[in-house]
Amino acid sequence: MGKLDGKVVFISGAARGQGRSHAVRFAQEGADIIALDICAQIETYDIPLATPEDLKETVRLVEATGRSIVAVEGDVRDLEVVEQTVAAGVDRFGRIDIAVANAGGVGRMKMGWELTADEFRDVVEVNLFGPWNVAKAVIGRMLAQGDGGAIVMTSSGVVNRPFANMVHYVAAKTGVIGLVRSLAYELAPHGIRVNAVLPGMVNTPLVDNPVIRKLYVPDGDGPTDEEFRAVAGAMTPMPVPWLEPQDITEGILYLVSDSGRYVTGAELTLDAGTQLF
Ligand SMILES: NC(=O)c1ccc[n+]([C@@H]2O[C@H](COP(=O)([O-])OP(=O)(O)OC[C@H]3O[C@@H](n4cnc5c(N)ncnc54)[C@H](O)[C@@H]3O)[C@@H](O)[C@H]2O)c1
Repeated sequence: MGKLDGKVVFISGAARGQGRSHAVRFAQEGADIIALDICAQIETYDIPLATPEDLKETVRLVEATGRSIVAVEGDVRDLEVVEQTVAAGVDRFGRIDIAVANAGGVGRMKMGWELTADEFRDVVEVNLFGPWNVAKAVIGRMLAQGDGGAIVMTSSGVVNRPFANMVHYVAAKTGVIGLVRSLAYELAPHGIRVNAVLPGMVNTPLVDNPVIRKLYVPDGDGPTDEEFRAVAGAMTPMPVPWLEPQDITEGILYLVSDSGRYVTGAELTLDAGTQLF
């Protein structure tokens, strides 16, 4: 018996990285999946986002578990797109039980005062409006179903201390905490739980790319794997440089399954101890 048998889960940013990991693992636990991913580039971003092929691979991996998936290419900044995606999934699977607002990204990395208004706005729209859009698209349906629900929003360990070159991202991810606490309070009487995960560094294309490597090791033409590992490792008290996507998935699985049935408004930091520094 799976921990999510008969459940339907909506995941934003499911084409690769953590979102794909959540989709595949939750399917292994018996859930059907509704997946959304932009699968295109945002003009003000330097780090490449997922591709249509990435989303197809998530579909393949979910279907290989024996569960079903509705996958849509679309932008989480657009409420109508998010609502249509959830509607398509509910048409297919009949209900919605869980939502994971995972889509996010750091955008162009510069000192706060050097960002353009568009660079700032895009990151806030993806990382703060995005989770609100996800919540807005599922809560009415969960209330109508009348048997509770679980929402998890992916914030970040960057909210725990100041970071340079990420003020837009830190501001948006900090806003997510406020969103989680307030929605958790509003929805607790209805049995709908809302929680946040705060990952430290996770081994996904968001961090393992030339832009982030250069930020961590500014000298030279880009660090070797070993140099990057050493710099990242210096930020984690535990003897690992970063977490793997499945480590975040396991935390979310706890929050959305019966194991976490009375957990709401919580902030689960998953970071090999980085917050202790
Ligand atoms: N990797 C890390 O170190 C780390 C640390 C803390 C928090 N996070 C957060 O974890 C979440 C998952 O990131 P990841 O590490 O898997 O990175 P990732 O870049 O591999 O995955 C993010 C996914 O979101 C999608 N996406 C981005 N903007 C979108 C939009 N506007 N609409 C729809 N989809 C969009 C991307 O295409 C991509 O598939 C993000 O919210 C990120 O901010 C990551």
